[in-house]
Amino acid sequence: MSRVKVFPSKPFSVRIDNIAADKSISHRSVMFSMLAEGVSEIENFLRAEDTLNSLEIVKNLGAHVVDDGDVIKISSDGIKESFEILDCGNSGTGMRLFCGLLSSAEGHFVLTGDKYLRKRPMKRVTTPLISIGAKIDGREHGDLAPLSIRGSSLKAFTYESKIASAQVKSCMILAALRADGVCRYTEPELSRDHTERMLKGMGAEVQVDGLSTTIKPMKQLLSPLKIRVPADPSSAFFFAVAAAIVPGSDIVLEGVTLNPTRIEAFKALEHMGANISYELTDNKYEPIGNIHVQYAPLKAITIEHNISWLIDELPALSIAMACAEGESVVKNAEELRVKESDRIATVVEGLRKCGIEVHEYKDGYCIVGGELTKASVESDGDHRIAMSFIIAGLKCGMEVSDLECINTSFPNFFELLQKLTQIEF
Ligand code: S3P
Repeated sequence: MSRVKVFPSKPFSVRIDNIAADKSISHRSVMFSMLAEGVSEIENFLRAEDTLNSLEIVKNLGAHVVDDGDVIKISSDGIKESFEILDCGNSGTGMRLFCGLLSSAEGHFVLTGDKYLRKRPMKRVTTPLISIGAKIDGREHGDLAPLSIRGSSLKAFTYESKIASAQVKSCMILAALRADGVCRYTEPELSRDHTERMLKGMGAEVQVDGLSTTIKPMKQLLSPLKIRVPADPSSAFFFAVAAAIVPGSDIVLEGVTLNPTRIEAFKALEHMGANISYELTDNKYEPIGNIHVQYAPLKAITIEHNISWLIDELPALSIAMACAEGESVVKNAEELRVKESDRIATVVEGLRKCGIEVHEYKDGYCIVGGELTKASVESDGDHRIAMSFIIAGLKCGMEVSDLECINTSFPNFFELLQKLTQIEF
């Protein structure tokens, strides 16, 4: 299944209650279980390549895992040195958070990933970790995986990060839990805060004050996590864009996390003209609910603030921008260049193939809204690029190739897409 043909969609009205579970929360749920005393219970864990790799890694680190296919129960009596090389696959989150977790664990660990992950920058976590006493090395002086970690004692820190990255923040919070004193981490803009919410829920002393987080080292093991992972807003967003670009359509996306640091792309789409409403249905660790999106003609938007709140959704939002009236601009989004692909380059190239005028900048792009036309687009091994252009196909027809990457985050994507239109492999 390396190429799909998508046919233009007729207006649709659907309700989806099985959007893939949240990737960020799934990774964290298995990792944080290693810090608890007792049995953590995780329901609706994302069974996609990235998060299954994290589950496999915690098993290799000595966790006892019982999985009945519905609930995953994890208990651990401490992180054990692994006989295996720990393979994070395609996942930057996996690799960066495990760096924080393992840098204080007893033993030697090797983290690696696929050919895409081995090209992504790791200095953003290895430099601050090394500065507090972690023993880490890797290619390019510790910037590129494979990374080798020899657990050691960590010093308390005050760290001001230059980038708004939840991966860096979470890595440092995990390190802080084992440091020799109170630590403080500050970021330039608030990034997603699942780590803070989940660890606090487990009893960790993590205090958030604006852009600063103060972390007290763990005096004892944490309480086990009991969580039902909500649906992933980044995955749900592909279907939100689908409804926003196909005239006459509407869609309800159920059980999605409504955490404000995750739904900014829906707010942007709303600002562009789509009718969007939110219904809160639950609130454990984070607000959870349903998102209803109805088609309305779209107008251009400029995105330049709170980039980390919608960084993962920018490729899909770019498809909406291509369908909007006027010139949309994305600025201050240089981080897009170091995601699963260089997403500035892949979005620009893909949209140009679809006949859209796009101007590329170092830190973003300008998309001149127009008429999307059918094209043949490659994903460059990036799941979000593949799914974004498949969704564009609902408007004009599309052929997209290099699709295996979709399994890293959204294994039932095609099953759901078939509710909206005809596809052919
Ligand atoms: C993630 C944080 C984001 C996001 C990634 C998942 C996380 O990365 O792009 O898909 O789970 O912490 P950065 O924090 O590095 O921007």
